Amino acid sequence: TWTPEAFVGMTVSELKEHIGEDKVVLGLSGGVDSSVAAVLLHKAIGSNLYCIFVNNGLLRKDEFESVLHQYKDMGLNVKGVDASARFLDALAGVSDPEEKRKAIGNAFIEVFDAEAHRIEDVKFLAQGTIYPDVIESISVSGGPSATIKSHHNVGGLPDFMKLKVVEPLKMLFKDEVRRVGAELEISNEILGRHPFPGPGLAIRILGDVTGEKVRILQEVDAIFINGLKEWMLYDKVWQAGAILLPVSSVGVMGDERTYEKVVALRAVESTDGMTADWVNLPYDFLQKMSNTIINRVKGVNRVVYDISSKPPATIEWE
Ligand code: XMP
Repeated sequence: TWTPEAFVGMTVSELKEHIGEDKVVLGLSGGVDSSVAAVLLHKAIGSNLYCIFVNNGLLRKDEFESVLHQYKDMGLNVKGVDASARFLDALAGVSDPEEKRKAIGNAFIEVFDAEAHRIEDVKFLAQGTIYPDVIESISVSGGPSATIKSHHNVGGLPDFMKLKVVEPLKMLFKDEVRRVGAELEISNEILGRHPFPGPGLAIRILGDVTGEKVRILQEVDAIFINGLKEWMLYDKVWQAGAILLPVSSVGVMGDERTYEKVVALRAVESTDGMTADWVNLPYDFLQKMSNTIINRVKGVNRVVYDISSKPPATIEWE
């Protein structure tokens, strides 16, 4: 029978054997999979694992600093790279969801490649790929690496993509990854974190993305997520977040009519993201969130709650 303890023991010795004294580069995202992969590799090869954590400026409020700090506390050899401005530049004027994803993907590749080049003589690229990713990349249009390749068919592959790939979690399901993470004593704050899309808040800002919109959405999102935690609802929800809609609505403040942004809150229950039900959050909670958001976040005068399930609605709005 499969146990996290046996998996860790076996995988660490296999990684030692396979990698030897060579250097490995790994991109951390703050999510469960890349974090568990990093700790596992760190256990096997120590500081020969070079982690890179890129701030694309589209993360949750304060997430970059707080997660980077946690990684350092865990003893990982990690470099934080703040490339926010570069991603915002790449997104300027882009409204189409797939174009946004491409712009973000390309910017990430460039930033990561430049950082990987700073590591002398690196031989391996480690990834937190898990079993469902493997299946998906077979069934969906060649998967992420095919997408990356198609973006770079002019100048050839970025160099880091030519490294030998190490994927220690690729036979595991999500719940097994969490159990391995617990075995490795990774904090619940990281292991219990909701899934968050790679393109981040960019696909929760419908239409074009600006720094100001990101700041507004970060504030709204932080109130909602912290609220879920305070009300002990966070762990009952599979994924939650806020969406900034590209419309303004009329409001009233004192004697004045206002014309400000609308945000939608979304919280879903799911096991794998393939299907999802909207969560029946308590009215008291929604009332509190709505009041707090409208009172505290300048530029927002209306909050709605998304009561659509997947299918046919998707979890993200873009
Ligand atoms: P949808 O919106 O397709 O989302 O129901 C299912 C799950 O996938 C996440 N998602 C993404 N993750 N890059 C990612 O890394 C993306 O472009 C992307 N789009 C959606 C979404 O957050 C949900 O967990």
